[in-house]
Amino acid sequence: MLSRLTRRGLLRLFGAGALAFGSGVLNGCALPTRSSVMPQPQTNPNPAFTPDLDLTIRAVAAEVSILPGKPTRVWTYQAQVHAGDPAAVQPIPDSYLGPIIRVRTGQKVRITFENGLPDPRQASIIHWHGLHTPPAMDGHPYTAVRPGERYVYEFTVTDRAGTYWFHPHPHGQTAQQVIMGLAGLFVVSDPAEEAIGLPGGEYDLPLVIQDRTFDADNQFVYDPDPMTRLMGFLGERILVNGRPDLTITAATRAYRWRILNGSNSRIYKLAWDSGMPLTVIATDGGLLERPLTRPFVMLAPGERIELWVDLRNIPPGTTLKLISQPFSGAEGVGMMSESGNMDHGMGGMHGQMGMMRSGNAPPLGAPLDILHVQVTRQEQETLVLPALLTPIQRYRREEAVNATTPRRIALSLRGMEWRINGKTFVMDEVAPDEIVRLNTLELWEIVNETNPGEMMDPMGMAHPIHIHGGQFQIIQRTVLPELQTGWEEVKDGYVDEGWKDTILVMPGERVQILIAFRDYTGMYVYHCHNLEHEDAGMMRNYRIEV
Ligand code: C2O
Ligand code: CU
Repeated sequence: MLSRLTRRGLLRLFGAGALAFGSGVLNGCALPTRSSVMPQPQTNPNPAFTPDLDLTIRAVAAEVSILPGKPTRVWTYQAQVHAGDPAAVQPIPDSYLGPIIRVRTGQKVRITFENGLPDPRQASIIHWHGLHTPPAMDGHPYTAVRPGERYVYEFTVTDRAGTYWFHPHPHGQTAQQVIMGLAGLFVVSDPAEEAIGLPGGEYDLPLVIQDRTFDADNQFVYDPDPMTRLMGFLGERILVNGRPDLTITAATRAYRWRILNGSNSRIYKLAWDSGMPLTVIATDGGLLERPLTRPFVMLAPGERIELWVDLRNIPPGTTLKLISQPFSGAEGVGMMSESGNMDHGMGGMHGQMGMMRSGNAPPLGAPLDILHVQVTRQEQETLVLPALLTPIQRYRREEAVNATTPRRIALSLRGMEWRINGKTFVMDEVAPDEIVRLNTLELWEIVNETNPGEMMDPMGMAHPIHIHGGQFQIIQRTVLPELQTGWEEVKDGYVDEGWKDTILVMPGERVQILIAFRDYTGMYVYHCHNLEHEDAGMMRNYRIEV
């Protein structure tokens, strides 16, 4: 019989792909031993669970027309409602993106995931990014299922109204599956949000920003070389909702925009080309307490931001452009001096800009056009941007059980591997300092270290750190003086006032967060949401214990 160690060894060496690929061998004998500390997979519905919404989501191969000419082969999530409101599933027409799933806080959902991917090596599992679910419902990579298999999620949505999302989470293959198209929005509403009267219906606009590279045949290119695996994939073209060069037509009125950075590793510095400030109303975990304005907003992979876009004073006939402004400092590769060491005095030059990457993609931090808005028609409405959105109970540092001794999450590079506290991902491994107590609030300090002596990227790179299990709060950021210059270019675009599940940590930055562990015990992952980093092992388990 295959031991857990065999499974673990396989996974460590080759990722989940090897596990799935090896399944032909495994089929003849017993399945690998399931560890009792790991999330216990659920492959059948529980008859005692009565869902308000019951649906199937299938990951399948399809063809979508994206560029003129040949259609593009993609993988996509297709959903079907069995019981509950059929409007809970809202497809995005002509897109490889999955449908928008719309639920209300308090609803019980059953979602049967079917892995219908055409490649036997593609084990998969869905993670509900940002939702507070039990470990077995969270899409831990341990629970990935092979093509032809299914996984049954049953949980109550307990989260605040907000823009969450879902995407694959098999270890070692998340990046490829997301590139191929597997991702969708999961929008939660609640009475507190509805009471405010924000723009709804067609004026509530989801926008998923991704980057892709196409070959001459209009097919996605994803064949990461070692440098791409180290730094992350950057695509040549920006797609919004799966479309290149998106132009939205709009009326002279207020809109709610829900923006997700669904890119594998590209970070955006979103701004209006005109210099008009952005009005931010929500972050990862829903509405802010009050609207905030920013000259630009930093949006790293996995993060969401919601904007109040007021076009009432824009004359019809005007075209606005949403851009990503240039920034430096998010990666340091290519800035080695002849001695192979980074020149600490050259903060301003740091990260200009991945000169060692191959391909024609704009470098990380290059200026980009994201989308155009054409104001085409007059419309009267009387919506008012509320001065107060929804209350947020701020945690206080003193309430943390470790208020004076933060739990340290150090991000570093060893050779060609990004690590967390010096470690790489092992499927069922949890270190003693990765165990937390149920019903406690903790202070975590995420430290993006420099890596003196590391040839590949001595000053490190930006990492969007995502913690499964729920939302946290950011209380403090500091940066090393020698990396201040790059940081200054982005820091005014942080929105740290709201609930967060993913946080951009720039090179040399140290961020303190307060995170509570409630309701469920068990194993969750935390990781870098640069999907190439995640796949390469920049992920760890943490366990909540009684
Ligand atoms: Cu959005 Cu663990 O991922
Ligand atoms: Cu990373």
